Amino acid sequence: MHAPALRELRATDRAPIAAILHATGAFTDEEVGVALELVDEGLVDATTADAYRFVVAELDGRVVGYACFGLTPLTDGVFDVYWIAVDPACQGRGVGKALLRAVEAEVTRRHGRTILIETGGKPSYAATRTFYDRAGYREIARIPDFFRIGDDKVVYARRVDGQDPRRSSES
Ligand SMILES: CC(C)(COP(=O)(O)OP(=O)(O)OC[C@H]1O[C@@H](n2cnc3c(N)ncnc32)[C@H](O)[C@@H]1OP(=O)(O)O)[C@@H](O)C(=O)NCCC(=O)NCCS
Repeated sequence: MHAPALRELRATDRAPIAAILHATGAFTDEEVGVALELVDEGLVDATTADAYRFVVAELDGRVVGYACFGLTPLTDGVFDVYWIAVDPACQGRGVGKALLRAVEAEVTRRHGRTILIETGGKPSYAATRTFYDRAGYREIARIPDFFRIGDDKVVYARRVDGQDPRRSSES
C-alpha cells in the first residue's frame, strides 16, 4: 500500500472527518461534537499561536484520517494532540503513524519541544495505547478514576528535542 498524502485542513474535510469519527466507534456523540467544534475553529482561525492545527491524510484522493493539535497555552513549546482518528477501513496500514510523524515535523518547525497525548486507561483503549507506544510515545502520567471510576486518564509524551520525556532537564 502506498503512503498517504498529508495536507492541511480544508472546509470540505468536515463531512468526511465527521463520518470517520462516528465510524471508529471510539467516540461518544458528545466527543464527536467537541472534535467537530475544533474543526470549525481550525477553519476560521489558523493564524494565532495557539490555534487548533490539523493534518489530514488522503489515500487515492479520499480523506482517511486526521490529527488535530496545538500549542498548549502558557507553555513555551508543549503541544497537545487533541484528536487523532483513522477510517476503520484503512487502520493498521501506517496512516496513524504518518499523521503523528507529520504533527512532529510541524511541532519541530514551530520550535516545540514536547508532544502530549491524553487518552483513556480502560481496556477498550488498549489498542490506542499500543499505537502510541509503537510510535515512540511514553506514558508519563496517569490520573486514576479520571473519566469515571475505573477509567484513568493516561498521558503519553514524546520529546522532539531528543530529551527523555520522563525526566526533567535538571535531573
Ligand atoms: C489509533 C489510530 C489513530 C491508529 O491509526 P492506524 O492507522 O490504525 O495506526 P498505524 O497503522 O499507523 O499503526 C502504527 C503502529 O501501531 C500499531 N497498532 C495500530 N493499531 C493497533 C492495534 N489495534 N493493536 C495493536 N497495535 C496497533 C501498529 O501495529 C503499528 O506498529 P508498527 O509501527 O510497529 O508496525 C486508529 O486505530 C484509530 O483511529 N482508532 C480509533 C480512534 C482512537 O482511538 N483515537 C485516539 C483517541 S485518544
